[in-house]
Amino acid sequence: MASMSHSFLILLLLPLLIAADKCNKDDKRALISIKSAFNNAYHFASWTSTSACCDWYGVECDPGVPGNSDGSRVTGLYVITDSNVTGPIPSAVGDLPFLTSLRFHKLPNLTGNIPSSITRLTRLSVLILSWNSLSGPIPSFLSQIPSLTIINLSFNQFSGSIPAELANLPSLLGLDFSRNRLTGPIPSEFGNFPKSSPPDLILNHNSLSGNLPVSLGVPEWRTIDLSRNSFTGDASFLFGAGKSTQVIDLSRNEFAFDLSRVTFPVNLTSLDLNHNKISGSIPAQINQVEPNFFSQFNVSYNQLCGQIPAGPITAKFGVDAYFHNKCLCGSPLPPCTRG
Ligand SMILES: *[C@@H]1O[C@H](CO)[C@@H](O)[C@H](O)[C@H]1NC(C)=O
Ligand SMILES: *[C@@H]1O[C@H](CO)[C@@H](O)[C@H](O)[C@H]1NC(C)=O
Ligand SMILES: *[C@@H]1O[C@H](CO)[C@@H](O)[C@H](O)[C@H]1NC(C)=O
Ligand SMILES: *[C@@H]1O[C@H](CO)[C@@H](O)[C@H](O)[C@H]1NC(C)=O
Ligand SMILES: *[C@@H]1O[C@H](CO)[C@@H](O)[C@H](O)[C@H]1NC(C)=O
Repeated sequence: MASMSHSFLILLLLPLLIAADKCNKDDKRALISIKSAFNNAYHFASWTSTSACCDWYGVECDPGVPGNSDGSRVTGLYVITDSNVTGPIPSAVGDLPFLTSLRFHKLPNLTGNIPSSITRLTRLSVLILSWNSLSGPIPSFLSQIPSLTIINLSFNQFSGSIPAELANLPSLLGLDFSRNRLTGPIPSEFGNFPKSSPPDLILNHNSLSGNLPVSLGVPEWRTIDLSRNSFTGDASFLFGAGKSTQVIDLSRNEFAFDLSRVTFPVNLTSLDLNHNKISGSIPAQINQVEPNFFSQFNVSYNQLCGQIPAGPITAKFGVDAYFHNKCLCGSPLPPCTRG
């Protein structure tokens, strides 16, 4: 009896299961044009007209999304690690309206700009276009996709400046533009990100320059990485004992400010200031930072002076965290000479 009702249930559900397995025909058509825009590269060998597109390599569907009566909708597209995938991002990616995650990663022959058709992806949350050969500007039209939470454009050849409009995106968790050819300043509008939940801001290895807008002192960045650019002037307003900031990397820029005036966020885990023009002395308050998770500290190659304050944080690091300063002294550097 139990087994009979079981098989009855399966019979009843079978058409539903098949329907769920079938992919939406508009989505399938869009994927086929993506495949053909990439010259039917071997990567897309499983993308055949006789199979359900939800079973294709790198395609993810969600049978639960609304509008599935005509087959499951494509919610994820992943094209990863293949040098045979050549040419620009096909504009047909904009024809997958239920896409929440788009990832083109490690495609060394993926070239050209980000297509504007992407703005039609009104549910897109995760946009990862890292380690390709994409170029052109970071388009301001990305600000027209309010669902975006992660924008990762790292390791490409994007140039031009950072569009201020991105500060209008309400749900951002992370912006990673590292390892590109970006120029110009950080827009002052980036100070408008939510004070207690701004996105992680990763901008290392570009050619960004200018003074930081003072407005950047308002959001409590969890991670702010501006390393290896040409930023100048003050960055002291990024600090503050009451902030929830965990990672600050300002290394290899031309920042020039007085470190004596700074207080350190108590939950800081990593602070790298090496190779700048930072002056003053290391405040004793550094040793009030929670030591358990504090793992990286580097103030080398600056113009610091005075005694390194003794304590649980400063004792964790050796000479190379402090060397090449103007007149920094005391353990682990040679003792200060009274004069
Ligand atoms: C790339 O194309 C070459 C030549 O067609 C082929 O031998 C190779 O397996 C392809 N690589 C991948 C990752 O598909
Ligand atoms: C892809 O790029 C590599 C260099 O990364 C190059 O040697 C190769 O010829 C390119 N392949 C195609 C199919 O364009
Ligand atoms: C962006 O992608 C790179 C390369 O995969 C990765 O290392 C990095 O952590 C990503 N950044 C963010 C903010 O997730
Ligand atoms: C530091 O971390 C602790 C434990 O997670 C948390 O309770 C506290 O609010 C944090 N302090 C700040 C200033 O964010
Ligand atoms: C600090 O940075 C300098 C310069 O890049 C490097 O030589 C040194 O090893 C670093 N030390 C630590 C502890 O990170």
